[in-house]
Amino acid sequence: MAFNDSTESAGPAMPRWETIVFDAAGAADFAPASALDALEADVARAARSLETRECPGADRLGWLDPEAACPAAERAAIREEAERARADCDAYVVIGIGGSYLGARAVREALRGHADGPELFFAGTGLHAGATARLLRDLRDRDVRVCAISKSGTTLEPALALRFWREFLERKYGRAGAARRITAVTDAHRGALRALAVAAGWRVFAVPDDVGGRFSVLTPVGLLPLAVAGLDIDALVAGATSMRQACREPRLRDNPAHFYAAHRHVLGARGFRTEILSAFCEDLRWLQEWWKQLFGESEGQRGRGLFPAAATMTADLHSLGQYIQDGPRDLFETFLCARETAPALRVPAVEFPADPEADDGLGALAGRSLDAINALAWEGVRQAHVAGGVPCLELTLDRLDPRTVGGLIHFFEKAVAVSGLLLGVNPFEQPGVEAYKREVSRLLGRR
Ligand code: PA5
Repeated sequence: MAFNDSTESAGPAMPRWETIVFDAAGAADFAPASALDALEADVARAARSLETRECPGADRLGWLDPEAACPAAERAAIREEAERARADCDAYVVIGIGGSYLGARAVREALRGHADGPELFFAGTGLHAGATARLLRDLRDRDVRVCAISKSGTTLEPALALRFWREFLERKYGRAGAARRITAVTDAHRGALRALAVAAGWRVFAVPDDVGGRFSVLTPVGLLPLAVAGLDIDALVAGATSMRQACREPRLRDNPAHFYAAHRHVLGARGFRTEILSAFCEDLRWLQEWWKQLFGESEGQRGRGLFPAAATMTADLHSLGQYIQDGPRDLFETFLCARETAPALRVPAVEFPADPEADDGLGALAGRSLDAINALAWEGVRQAHVAGGVPCLELTLDRLDPRTVGGLIHFFEKAVAVSGLLLGVNPFEQPGVEAYKREVSRLLGRR
């Protein structure tokens, strides 16, 4: 673990992992060092209970060791399947909801510049007939494959979507042709989707028994669609594995995930009940959605947990900016920004007409990179929000590449596990979702 030179002597330490820095200077007045120190033993205890598999949900900890959750041989089989798909389709329809699609979508969007395969489409993410009909129509003349992902195999939205897409493929390619174009990712031993796949002769990949939906992006659930999209899945897993080491550091201030979890806990206890993940990068919009699920579903139990919200900057400064700056002081922000997204994009010089009114005052920015301007906007926003009473944490990624994004995924997974345990909940279950499922099933006459 190295430290950023500029703050080694002044202000709080900033844990750095390869290409990601966690900086809590903007929260120092709200989460003082004494409160963090007081929590250090609890954080260490929570982390130890994960490592020794003695915490609640101990049978759901497969994600903790990314290499074991999807070993090299499994990744080779995924790559082989992906090559087959890349050879005969240009539209890959991923059917799944919640943890069975958000991770793949998040990584795909964050790494747009690295993908080169068939276009990924996502289905089964709702019950909107219009959206389903539109996608079925739009892909009529494309070479289509389908990947049905559901650990339980019985989730309403993907189960219905699969009916439509199976019919679509059978009409287009015949029954045998369709069977070659459907892959299932589901429970290793049981469930309706597994039974269906085996009966129809579809290729099947298994979701590890010890990994729950929202922690499953670095298993076949996320890695298969991402490999089809042409992304380097080994680099994703390697990034997560390396981050795992950083997230095992015993000292709170050396451990990025623990330091983040401790800040969230202290801020939550002091009345900051909403966390806004503010990304200064539009390609991270789906990563924010994945994060919302990861933290919302893992922490929000028994009246506890922070509300996970998201803002995409700078667009949302023009909608939520007023509220964040000046609304109730019960929220804090975690900024997420990549330093370099397209360094070659520099602002063109413009020649202004003689009329001084035509001068927008931005002439000095000619030749500056848009990434550098974005970073300055971020700094300005951070300063304004801190001054307005909003604690600000910052996660800076040097760049968006598979290794960095793999590291970021593990960072958040480890942080939410520790956060949930600090709150006294089981971060690997979601008992609350059963209530609405029961009601919907009753209305649908589901057995
Ligand atoms: O995190 C979770 O466990 C959930 O969000 C599930 O991923 C989601 O409900 C989909 O479940 P399944 O994969 O069983 O269809």
